[in-house]
Amino acid sequence: MLLGRNKISLLHLPTPLDHLGNISADLGIDLYIKRDDMTHLGMGGNKLRKLEYLAKDAMNQGATMLITEGGAQTNHGRLTAAVATKLGLKCAIATADKYPGEISSNLLLDGLMNCPVYFKAEDGIHSRNERLKMCAEEVVAKYEAEGEKVYFIPLGGSNELGTLGYYECSIELTKQSKDSGIEDALVVTAIGSMGTYMGLAVGFEKENSKLDLVGLSIMPYTNSIYEHADTYLDSVNSFFGIDVKPKFNISTDYDRGAYNNPVKEVRDAIYYMAKKEAIILDPCYTGKAFAGLLDMVNKGKISKGSSVIFLHTGGQPGINTPHHRLEMEKELKDYIHLI
Ligand SMILES: Cc1ncc(COP(=O)(O)O)c(C=O)c1O
Repeated sequence: MLLGRNKISLLHLPTPLDHLGNISADLGIDLYIKRDDMTHLGMGGNKLRKLEYLAKDAMNQGATMLITEGGAQTNHGRLTAAVATKLGLKCAIATADKYPGEISSNLLLDGLMNCPVYFKAEDGIHSRNERLKMCAEEVVAKYEAEGEKVYFIPLGGSNELGTLGYYECSIELTKQSKDSGIEDALVVTAIGSMGTYMGLAVGFEKENSKLDLVGLSIMPYTNSIYEHADTYLDSVNSFFGIDVKPKFNISTDYDRGAYNNPVKEVRDAIYYMAKKEAIILDPCYTGKAFAGLLDMVNKGKISKGSSVIFLHTGGQPGINTPHHRLEMEKELKDYIHLI
């Protein structure tokens, strides 16, 4: 039980903490990777840790169905579908994006797990956020009218309860870092809807971990990201009846101007990790964050000789999203030989 809450155990935890010898030698730092992409359900990823807690709450409330929202290629939606499948619940995903024109990546996986995806595309009147809200409300109303008891999970599972997934990971990582002799390492993670970062930040602080944390935002926030973090923290503190005040360290230097956009430096970081360590990153989150980490080392923001843990939050189905895959095809095609 964590901060008074239980979860449904669906994962084989702890996930591995691996040393990246080849890249460490190249960069002159001591680099480790926390393999949260190796959470095994529905092809894995960070959202599963949050969903263990959210699913418990859903079951306690007698839910028959999980509904969530996100982008057309939402990893969180795919993993919500995975958890629902495992628990014998129905699932649906609401999105405000345009249908990408083909069934690939997460969208394909949603279909394989029999999870319907509802698109409410651009209408020239409503903003994306408004359409997302409208879409989610419509989908919830539809299934409630059909008699389902719906448990709604917000974007990225990043609410108070979802934070517990990475609070728990902060304890796991603190122990693993001690075992590996790197207890004062810097942990680097991508920030999307922020639940992962918040869980780690609150957990490290409350559990007196020596680990340091930096979050790299993978998209521009409409308002100040620090304001968002403060509001989120307040809600976490009041929900759990705690008073934790971590000092946030968030960088917006690597958001590359948009969410899930194709970026050459990000693809180069993905190629580098794959070539050196046989680990596959994704173009939306982990590739962006790792490209940021590489830049921080190059610019001396991460000093030589220091210990760093990169959190692999999953997302690999994204390499097959058409707008990323086509760029990679152009850049990599020379490895194909027709003889
Ligand atoms: C693969 C991957 N990494 C990182 C994140 C960011 O996590 P959070 O939304 O908790 O900030 C997400 C969120 O969707 C994700 O799918």
